[in-house]
Amino acid sequence: MTIRLAASQPFARGGNRLCYVHPEDNSLCIKVRRPDFTLADRRRKKGFPKNLKPLSSFDDNLEEAKVMSALQRRFGELVFRHVSHCFGFVDTDMGRGLVSELIRDGNGAISQTLKKVIWDEAFNRECRRAVTELCQFWAANLVPSRHLLLHNIVVQRDSEGAIKRLVVIDGLGSAALLPMGLLPRSLQRKKIEKKIAVMHGRIETLLGQRKQARFPGYHGLLMHDGVSSQ
Ligand SMILES: Nc1ncnc2c1ncn2[C@@H]1O[C@H](COP(=O)(O)OP(=O)(O)O)[C@@H](O)[C@H]1O
Ligand SMILES: [Mg+2]
Repeated sequence: MTIRLAASQPFARGGNRLCYVHPEDNSLCIKVRRPDFTLADRRRKKGFPKNLKPLSSFDDNLEEAKVMSALQRRFGELVFRHVSHCFGFVDTDMGRGLVSELIRDGNGAISQTLKKVIWDEAFNRECRRAVTELCQFWAANLVPSRHLLLHNIVVQRDSEGAIKRLVVIDGLGSAALLPMGLLPRSLQRKKIEKKIAVMHGRIETLLGQRKQARFPGYHGLLMHDGVSSQ
Protein backbone atom coordinates (compact mmCIF):
# COMPACT_ATOMS: atom_id res chain seq x y z
CA MET A 1 0.00 0.00 0.00
CA THR A 2 1.29 3.44 -0.90
CA ILE A 3 1.24 5.98 1.90
CA ARG A 4 0.08 9.41 0.78
CA LEU A 5 2.33 12.25 1.89
CA ALA A 6 2.43 14.65 -1.05
CA ALA A 7 -0.76 16.49 -0.07
CA SER A 8 0.38 17.15 3.49
CA GLN A 9 2.91 19.62 4.82
CA PRO A 10 6.31 18.25 5.87
CA PHE A 11 7.37 19.26 9.39
CA ALA A 12 10.97 19.79 8.34
CA ARG A 13 13.29 19.95 5.38
CA GLY A 14 16.92 18.94 5.68
CA GLY A 15 19.59 19.31 3.03
CA ASN A 16 18.50 16.05 1.42
CA ARG A 17 15.18 14.94 2.81
CA LEU A 18 11.67 16.05 3.66
CA CYS A 19 10.26 14.80 6.97
CA TYR A 20 6.56 14.05 7.41
CA VAL A 21 4.52 12.88 10.37
CA HIS A 22 3.41 9.31 9.54
CA PRO A 23 -0.29 9.70 8.57
CA GLU A 24 -1.22 6.47 10.36
CA ASP A 25 0.89 6.83 13.51
CA ASN A 26 1.87 10.21 14.87
CA SER A 27 4.68 8.74 16.97
CA LEU A 28 6.57 8.03 13.75
CA CYS A 29 8.02 10.12 10.95
CA ILE A 30 8.72 9.28 7.33
CA LYS A 31 11.74 10.74 5.57
CA VAL A 32 11.72 10.97 1.78
CA ARG A 33 14.14 12.38 -0.74
CA ARG A 34 13.58 16.04 -1.58
CA PRO A 35 11.98 16.11 -5.05
CA ASP A 36 13.85 19.35 -5.80
CA PHE A 37 17.21 17.71 -5.03
CA THR A 38 17.31 14.24 -6.52
CA LEU A 39 20.01 11.62 -6.09
CA ALA A 40 21.26 12.52 -9.57
CA ASP A 41 21.48 16.22 -8.55
CA ARG A 42 23.36 15.23 -5.43
CA ARG A 43 25.82 13.11 -7.38
CA ARG A 44 26.33 15.91 -9.93
CA LYS A 45 27.08 18.39 -7.15
CA LYS A 46 29.88 16.18 -5.81
CA GLY A 47 32.04 16.52 -8.91
CA PHE A 48 34.86 14.26 -10.03
CA PRO A 49 35.85 11.61 -8.87
CA LYS A 50 32.97 11.10 -6.38
CA ASN A 51 30.41 11.41 -9.18
CA LEU A 52 31.63 8.08 -10.56
CA LYS A 53 30.03 6.24 -7.64
CA PRO A 54 26.66 4.48 -8.14
CA LEU A 55 23.52 6.52 -7.42
CA SER A 56 22.59 4.28 -4.49
CA SER A 57 25.71 5.43 -2.64
CA PHE A 58 24.20 8.94 -2.44
CA ASP A 59 20.99 7.71 -0.81
CA ASP A 60 20.92 8.85 2.84
CA ASN A 61 17.89 6.74 3.63
CA LEU A 62 19.65 3.58 2.53
CA GLU A 63 22.81 4.54 4.37
CA GLU A 64 20.92 5.47 7.52
CA ALA A 65 18.97 2.19 7.56
CA LYS A 66 22.22 0.21 7.21
CA VAL A 67 24.01 2.18 9.89
CA MET A 68 21.09 1.99 12.31
CA SER A 69 20.82 -1.77 12.11
CA ALA A 70 24.57 -2.07 12.58
CA LEU A 71 24.41 0.21 15.65
CA GLN A 72 21.56 -1.85 17.09
CA ARG A 73 23.54 -5.07 16.59
CA ARG A 74 26.59 -3.58 18.22
CA PHE A 75 25.09 -1.62 21.12
CA GLY A 76 21.58 -3.08 21.58
CA GLU A 77 18.82 -0.88 23.05
CA LEU A 78 21.34 1.24 24.97
CA VAL A 79 22.15 3.34 21.92
CA PHE A 80 18.53 4.50 21.60
CA ARG A 81 18.89 6.62 24.70
CA HIS A 82 20.51 9.17 22.38
CA VAL A 83 19.70 7.94 18.86
CA SER A 84 16.23 7.74 17.24
CA HIS A 85 14.90 4.26 16.43
CA CYS A 86 14.64 3.35 12.78
CA PHE A 87 11.89 1.05 11.48
CA GLY A 88 12.69 0.38 7.83
CA PHE A 89 11.15 1.39 4.53
CA VAL A 90 7.63 2.09 3.25
CA ASP A 91 6.31 3.05 -0.18
CA THR A 92 4.94 6.56 -0.41
CA ASP A 93 3.66 8.81 -3.19
CA MET A 94 7.00 10.67 -2.81
CA GLY A 95 9.12 7.57 -3.32
CA ARG A 96 10.55 5.16 -0.80
CA GLY A 97 10.44 6.56 2.71
CA LEU A 98 12.38 5.64 5.84
CA VAL A 99 10.27 5.32 8.99
CA SER A 100 11.79 6.56 12.28
CA GLU A 101 10.71 7.28 15.81
CA LEU A 102 9.44 10.87 15.84
CA ILE A 103 10.94 12.66 18.83
CA ARG A 104 8.26 14.70 20.60
CA ASP A 105 8.21 16.70 23.83
CA GLY A 106 5.97 15.89 26.78
CA ASN A 107 3.40 18.42 25.47
CA GLY A 108 3.20 16.55 22.14
CA ALA A 109 5.09 19.12 20.04
CA ILE A 110 7.88 17.83 17.80
CA SER A 111 11.17 18.44 19.62
CA GLN A 112 13.24 21.42 18.47
CA THR A 113 16.81 21.11 17.26
CA LEU A 114 19.77 21.93 19.49
CA LYS A 115 20.58 24.72 17.03
CA LYS A 116 17.17 26.34 17.57
CA VAL A 117 17.32 25.91 21.36
CA ILE A 118 20.77 27.49 21.63
CA TRP A 119 19.70 30.29 19.28
CA ASP A 120 16.62 31.01 21.43
CA GLU A 121 18.04 30.52 24.91
CA ALA A 122 21.85 30.64 24.58
CA PHE A 123 23.89 27.84 26.09
CA ASN A 124 22.35 27.85 29.54
CA ARG A 125 23.18 25.47 32.38
CA GLU A 126 20.45 22.99 31.58
CA CYS A 127 21.43 22.80 27.94
CA ARG A 128 25.11 22.53 28.79
CA ARG A 129 24.37 19.62 31.11
CA ALA A 130 22.40 17.83 28.35
CA VAL A 131 25.23 18.35 25.83
CA THR A 132 27.76 17.04 28.35
CA GLU A 133 25.63 13.94 28.92
CA LEU A 134 25.41 13.26 25.17
CA CYS A 135 29.16 13.77 24.71
CA GLN A 136 29.98 11.48 27.64
CA PHE A 137 27.69 8.82 26.20
CA TRP A 138 29.34 9.14 22.77
CA ALA A 139 32.83 8.90 24.21
CA ALA A 140 32.08 6.12 26.72
CA ASN A 141 30.42 3.89 24.10
CA LEU A 142 32.60 4.94 21.17
CA VAL A 143 29.58 5.50 18.95
CA PRO A 144 30.77 5.97 15.37
CA SER A 145 29.27 9.07 13.75
CA ARG A 146 29.95 11.81 11.27
CA HIS A 147 30.29 15.29 12.66
CA LEU A 148 27.69 16.06 15.30
CA LEU A 149 25.78 18.92 13.67
CA LEU A 150 23.52 21.08 15.83
CA HIS A 151 20.58 20.69 13.42
CA ASN A 152 20.90 16.89 13.50
CA ILE A 153 20.38 16.74 17.27
CA VAL A 154 16.97 17.36 18.86
CA VAL A 155 16.25 18.45 22.42
CA GLN A 156 13.46 16.39 23.96
CA ARG A 157 11.65 18.05 26.86
CA ASP A 158 9.33 16.52 29.45
CA SER A 159 5.80 17.76 30.14
CA GLU A 160 7.19 20.44 32.49
CA GLY A 161 9.47 21.76 29.75
CA ALA A 162 12.68 20.47 31.37
CA ILE A 163 15.24 18.91 29.03
CA LYS A 164 14.97 15.13 29.17
CA ARG A 165 17.64 14.10 26.69
CA LEU A 166 19.32 14.95 23.41
CA VAL A 167 18.64 12.64 20.48
CA VAL A 168 20.78 12.39 17.35
CA ILE A 169 18.41 12.01 14.38
CA ASP A 170 20.79 12.19 11.42
CA GLY A 171 24.47 12.03 10.49
CA LEU A 172 25.07 8.82 12.34
CA GLY A 173 27.62 7.65 9.99
CA SER A 174 28.27 6.28 6.64
CA ALA A 175 28.63 2.56 6.17
CA ALA A 176 32.29 3.39 5.58
CA LEU A 177 32.58 4.49 9.21
CA LEU A 178 31.37 1.23 10.70
CA PRO A 179 34.72 -0.57 10.55
CA MET A 180 35.88 2.14 12.95
CA GLY A 181 34.98 -0.43 15.62
CA LEU A 182 37.99 -2.45 14.44
CA LEU A 183 40.45 0.33 15.23
CA PRO A 184 42.27 0.37 18.58
CA ARG A 185 40.03 1.89 21.23
CA SER A 186 42.49 4.70 21.91
CA LEU A 187 42.31 5.78 18.28
CA GLN A 188 38.50 5.53 18.25
CA ARG A 189 38.44 7.65 21.40
CA LYS A 190 40.69 10.27 19.78
CA LYS A 191 38.42 10.49 16.73
CA ILE A 192 35.35 10.91 18.90
CA GLU A 193 37.03 13.53 21.08
CA LYS A 194 37.81 15.45 17.89
CA LYS A 195 34.13 15.29 16.84
CA ILE A 196 33.08 16.54 20.26
CA ALA A 197 35.59 19.41 20.12
CA VAL A 198 34.30 20.40 16.67
CA MET A 199 30.75 20.32 18.01
CA HIS A 200 31.70 22.69 20.84
CA GLY A 201 33.31 24.94 18.23
CA ARG A 202 30.00 25.01 16.34
CA ILE A 203 28.18 25.96 19.53
CA GLU A 204 30.62 28.86 20.04
CA THR A 205 30.10 30.00 16.44
CA LEU A 206 26.32 29.89 16.87
CA LEU A 207 26.53 31.85 20.12
CA GLY A 208 28.53 34.49 18.23
CA GLN A 209 25.80 34.64 15.56
CA ARG A 210 23.05 35.36 18.08
CA LYS A 211 23.69 39.10 17.65
CA GLN A 212 22.32 38.84 14.12
CA ALA A 213 18.63 39.49 13.51
CA ARG A 214 17.97 36.27 11.68
CA PHE A 215 18.44 32.57 12.41
CA PRO A 216 21.43 31.40 10.34
CA GLY A 217 20.22 29.26 7.43
CA TYR A 218 17.10 27.14 7.38
CA HIS A 219 18.58 23.90 8.74
CA GLY A 220 17.28 23.30 12.21
CA LEU A 221 13.94 25.10 11.97
CA LEU A 222 10.65 23.22 11.97
CA MET A 223 7.92 23.97 9.43
CA HIS A 224 5.20 22.96 11.90
CA ASP A 225 5.10 21.49 15.40
CA GLY A 226 3.09 18.37 14.59
CA VAL A 227 0.28 19.43 16.94
CA SER A 228 -1.43 22.69 16.05
CA SER A 229 -1.20 22.52 12.26
CA GLN A 230 -0.30 19.89 9.72
N1 LIG B 1 13.16 11.49 14.28
C1 LIG B 1 12.99 12.82 14.33
N2 LIG B 1 12.34 13.40 15.37
C2 LIG B 1 12.18 14.75 15.41
N3 LIG B 1 12.61 15.59 14.46
C3 LIG B 1 13.27 15.08 13.42
C4 LIG B 1 13.49 13.67 13.28
N4 LIG B 1 14.16 13.44 12.14
C5 LIG B 1 14.34 14.64 11.56
N5 LIG B 1 13.82 15.64 12.31
C6 LIG B 1 13.83 17.07 11.97
O1 LIG B 1 13.91 17.20 10.57
C7 LIG B 1 15.10 17.91 10.16
C8 LIG B 1 15.65 17.29 8.89
O2 LIG B 1 15.84 15.89 9.06
P1 LIG B 1 17.20 15.14 8.66
O3 LIG B 1 17.01 13.72 8.95
O4 LIG B 1 18.35 15.83 9.31
O5 LIG B 1 17.24 15.38 7.08
P2 LIG B 1 18.52 15.52 6.09
O6 LIG B 1 19.06 14.14 5.92
O7 LIG B 1 17.97 16.09 4.84
O8 LIG B 1 19.50 16.43 6.75
C9 LIG B 1 16.01 17.82 11.38
O9 LIG B 1 16.88 18.95 11.42
C10 LIG B 1 15.04 17.81 12.55
O10 LIG B 1 14.61 19.12 12.88
MG1 LIG C 1 20.17 16.50 8.67
